[in-house]
Formats: sequence, structure tokens, C-alpha cells
Amino acid sequence: MRNIVEVQNLCVKFGDFFAVKDVSFAVTYGEIFGFLGANGAGKTTTIRVICGLTHATSGEVIIAGEHFIKGKEDIIKANVGYMSQRFTLYNDLTIKENLDFAATTHNVSRKDLQRNKSDLFDLIQFNKKESSLVSELPSGIKQQVALVAALIHQPKLVVLDEPTAGVSPVSRAYFWELIRKLTKMNKTVFVTTHYMDEAENCDRIALMRSGELIAIGTVPELKNNTFSTQMYNITPKKPLINDDAESISRLCLLFEPYGIHYHVVLKHDADITSLEDKCYVEKVNPSLEDVFIKLVEGDR
Ligand SMILES: Nc1ncnc2c1ncn2[C@@H]1O[C@H](COP(=O)(O)OP(=O)(O)O)[C@@H](O)[C@H]1O
Ligand SMILES: [Mg+2]
Repeated sequence: MRNIVEVQNLCVKFGDFFAVKDVSFAVTYGEIFGFLGANGAGKTTTIRVICGLTHATSGEVIIAGEHFIKGKEDIIKANVGYMSQRFTLYNDLTIKENLDFAATTHNVSRKDLQRNKSDLFDLIQFNKKESSLVSELPSGIKQQVALVAALIHQPKLVVLDEPTAGVSPVSRAYFWELIRKLTKMNKTVFVTTHYMDEAENCDRIALMRSGELIAIGTVPELKNNTFSTQMYNITPKKPLINDDAESISRLCLLFEPYGIHYHVVLKHDADITSLEDKCYVEKVNPSLEDVFIKLVEGDR
């Protein structure tokens, strides 16, 4: 069996509204699978179905070979660790109390709790007191303890919904080190993020827009499939006035601000000479941000 998650033709409706519409994909054992999309794209709703917290309106979800049917919830719960987008730990409880609670909800024995906790504390190089109140922890440490709570029952699949939202860049980088270590411990990681630099760390990425899956693949596949012709980074020799911007835009399939530069893809590569009058031009490889803008926001 190659896939730990199989989602087939999943639909989730709230009233008449499709939060998730005919979405199909699979997650392979051992990979870091990134789930991207703007706010409201349907990522959390899909995740909640995978974790058994929201019912599918139609479609199939199979976790570690088990279909989501009544009576199988416990098998699924045992295989999945979930770190939700907002609420993860009880702020007014200590670290120890939070982890005891997480262990109880997953029927982890005291002996296994002690062993798993000690392994996971080693993983995050934990050096706080377990009696510390969660509310007193910096947000980066809170996320690490939340990760320990999600892993306390040794699930094969870890689902992390925007785990690094609101934490410092240093803590974000450290959290991704932990994610990579998890795959070495034979975990599969399913993660959503808004940060494109983080998404580049994923083995494969799925992109959602308005409840639909619009692209899936490795980072190089997404880049090559989205832009089949050369991308240029252009820097205007003088600030572009409206007329200049419009005349350049007419030559382009893509014309997006990129810091103080622009990333452009031309309709006809021969038009490069017209660009060179007004701009310094260099060839670049598309970034994941370019892919994201083109696929997710490009039609708007
Ligand atoms: N319980 C709910 N009832 C009604 N609408 C919901 C509910 N949960 C989510 N939605 C809507 O479904 C859409 C997808 O939401 P969500 O899955 O949270 O997106 P994302 O995680 O990609 O930001 C949004 O328009 C959201 O407002
Ligand atoms: Mg969400």
C-alpha cells in the first residue's frame, strides 16, 4: 500500500455552498505533503474530514487503508495526529496537564505516555519546566508543545494546519527542521502554510482555489507545468508611468510586481527587445510564489 491518505471525489457542502468540491488526491507514506490556497479555499474543511471531525457530503476518504465508515473512527483516530489552525492547547493548563489530556483522549497508557513524551521532548530539545503554564510560553515553544501533543499517541500521519502562523522567522525555520525529522521517524506530514518559502520544503504540493483542487505535483513539476516559457525579472530604468506599464502588460502572459522588480512571461519571446528599451532584463526561474499567483489569483 503506497498511500496513507486517499481522498476521492470529496464534496463538503454547508447549506448550498460547496466548501470542498469534487476533490481527489492521495498522500504517499513518508512524504511532506503541502496543502496551499488562499483563505477560504477549503483547506481546513478538507483536513477536518481527513481527521474525522467533519462529515463529507459525498465522496470517499481512506486513511491507512481504512474507509471512513461508522465504527472505524477509532482506527482513524489512532493513525492521525492533528494540530489545528487555532485552538491547539489549553492556555490555562500547564504543559504536563495538556499532554496528559491529549494522551487520555487517545487512550495512551501511562507507561507509553512517559516514553513517548521523553522521545518527543528529545525531538524538540525541550528545556522548559513541564509545570509551566501554556499561556506563559512564547508562541514558537507553544507550537512545539502542540506538536508533541499531536504526536503523543504515535500516529503515522501528522496533519498540521498552518502550524507556523504567527511565530517568529527563527521559530518557523526550527519548526521545519522538526517536520523534516518527523519524516525520518517514518511519519507522513500533511501541512498547510501561507509561506511560500516553507512550501518549497514539501515533497509534493496541492493547490486549492474556491473549494477545488487546481494543481498537484512536486515543486519543479508545478513550476514547469505553470510556465512553459522563459520568465524574466525586469527592473525599470525609470519608474514606470501608467502608459509604460500598460504597454508592457500588453506583451505579457504574466506581469507581476516582485519586490522592486517585476516578473514577466512574454506572449512572444521576440518582444524582449521592446522590454530592454525601458528595463534591465534578466532570465530567472519562476518561484513558487509566481506559480501560486498565476494559478490561484491569476484569473482575478
Ligand atoms: N462550519 C461552517 N459553516 C459554514 N461555512 C463554513 C464552515 N466552515 C467553513 N466554511 C466556509 O467554507 C469555506 C472554506 O473554509 P476553510 O476550509 O476554513 O478554508 P481555508 O482553510 O482554506 O481558509 C469558507 O468560505 C468558509 O467560510
Ligand atoms: Mg484554514
